[in-house]
Amino acid sequence: MDINKLIISAMEARKKAYVPYSRFKVGAAIATSDGKIYEGCNIECAAYSVCNCAERTALFRAVYDGYKSFSAIAVVGGKESEESELSSFCPPCGMCRQALREFCNPYEMKIILAKNLNDFKIYTLNEMLPESFGPDNLNK
Ligand code: THU
Repeated sequence: MDINKLIISAMEARKKAYVPYSRFKVGAAIATSDGKIYEGCNIECAAYSVCNCAERTALFRAVYDGYKSFSAIAVVGGKESEESELSSFCPPCGMCRQALREFCNPYEMKIILAKNLNDFKIYTLNEMLPESFGPDNLNK
């Protein structure tokens, strides 16, 4: 999995964010285990609680196409005014971490938080969602 390619895809996805309320644009790019990349952006609604994060947009687009195994996701986010230079990392919200947990091995899935191609951090899903509840817990 090419980290640069995944970050560039997330940056491209961020351009598509529909954020008339927060003006906070997020892009995500998730890599399937066989190397395909799916992009997603955040999408907001006038009824604020109905907004969808970039990470889940990317994940659910891939699941809709039949993919259920992933190796990494890159996330970039910041205010609309930060067009080319992001000042901070954008960690996935709790709901997105849990959605990723449904389809990813928490010890292997990588979450890449990026400001640009030279400034990024990599975590495992387990680091971001320790002691998590997943599909296996229902079968014990
Ligand atoms: N948001 C994401 O898309 N991903 C994150 O990781 C954090 C937050 C979105 C939701 C909302 O549209 C905006 O950012 C402000 O919370």
